[in-house]
Amino acid sequence: MSINSSSNLKKIFKLDNKITYLNHGSYGACPKPVFDDYIKWQNALENQPVSFFSNDLYVYLERSRKHLGAFVNCKSDDIIFVPNPTYGVANVINNITINSGENVLTTNLEYGSCDRMWFYHSKKNDYKYINSKITLPVFDEDSFCDEFWSFANAKTKYIFISHITSSTGMILPIPKLVKEAKRRGIKTIIDGAHVPAHIELDIKTLDPDYYIGACHKWLCSPKGVSFLYVKKDLQKNIQPQVMSWGWGEEYDEFKSSTQHKTKSRFLNIFQWQGTRDMSAFLSVPKAIEFQKKYDWDQVRERCKKMIVDTRNEITLITDLPKICPDNFLGQMATILFPTKDHVKLKESLFEKNIEIPTYHQNGYTAFRISIQGYNSDSDIQYFLDTLKVLL
Ligand SMILES: Cc1ncc(COP(=O)(O)O)c(C=O)c1O
Repeated sequence: MSINSSSNLKKIFKLDNKITYLNHGSYGACPKPVFDDYIKWQNALENQPVSFFSNDLYVYLERSRKHLGAFVNCKSDDIIFVPNPTYGVANVINNITINSGENVLTTNLEYGSCDRMWFYHSKKNDYKYINSKITLPVFDEDSFCDEFWSFANAKTKYIFISHITSSTGMILPIPKLVKEAKRRGIKTIIDGAHVPAHIELDIKTLDPDYYIGACHKWLCSPKGVSFLYVKKDLQKNIQPQVMSWGWGEEYDEFKSSTQHKTKSRFLNIFQWQGTRDMSAFLSVPKAIEFQKKYDWDQVRERCKKMIVDTRNEITLITDLPKICPDNFLGQMATILFPTKDHVKLKESLFEKNIEIPTYHQNGYTAFRISIQGYNSDSDIQYFLDTLKVLL
């Protein structure tokens, strides 16, 4: 048995053995060695809270940012850790100015928490938040881009879009969209919650203005680790949602603050937001090391192939269309299912110990399957057999 076979990996993850877990996308799952590392940091904190919070923490945070920066190819002092993607997006939304008459262009495929924030912000500041209605099925990258841009106009100041969408699991053509946005002079805010360790992320080459990613999903860090990347020249005037001891370099009377632990104002204002447990942030290097040790490039390839094969098998059974071509898929796929009652579908699957999210959106019912290294062919076979019985 190879070191990264699904049965070997299943033992290393902390997941309940009784459950056929096909929902890695929602909250990820943390392997034991990474979780142990997280506990190690918590112990270090509790061992000497004052020296940990006063000094050690900043050294370890820098180490963690360096590993993450190398992993997503950006400078480590251009990213800050945040607990979740919503928090990262909030820090962007509340730092940008959009005048009445201008607009932010997005899609109808965005994550609910972010959509709500934009809705609130646009009403409060009297600008338009334009939802481009993406037609499903999507045919190819170019037709996706054409449809998206058909909703833009001369007053579009920002685009906000998921790199991989939560509801559809589709990998969107973000490099093409960022390039075109630059050509049009539009700033880009990319929600990459599902991206790190799912598909390759090279921030330097992509060159967005803002990028938000989660580490507790596909990188399998402990919960509560995400990051916000902000392009250097946009860091100057940014303000944190919570101002604390690291804030205020611009005011002489605060210059003596001992909380200014780095030379970067951007890092100082975000790193310390009051007492909180940052152990999960510190476990990022271990999560990266874990995936290297178990040759995750190979694991990912195996999972992607399983996703394509599984979707083929299910659409053969249901005779319903696929919502996108195979090249839009990574380790997740949203698949239509012929029922109106998605809650009943979810309950019926859970009765059979299958954990998978179901949706009812725009008149169709679907589930989203995620496949991670711990999922085996027999998990998929069991799922297919259960679907056949439900049909
Ligand atoms: C695309 C996308 N954006 C943002 C989020 C927000 O994550 P959270 O609720 O953890 O902040 C998610 C969560 O799954 C997501 O899938």
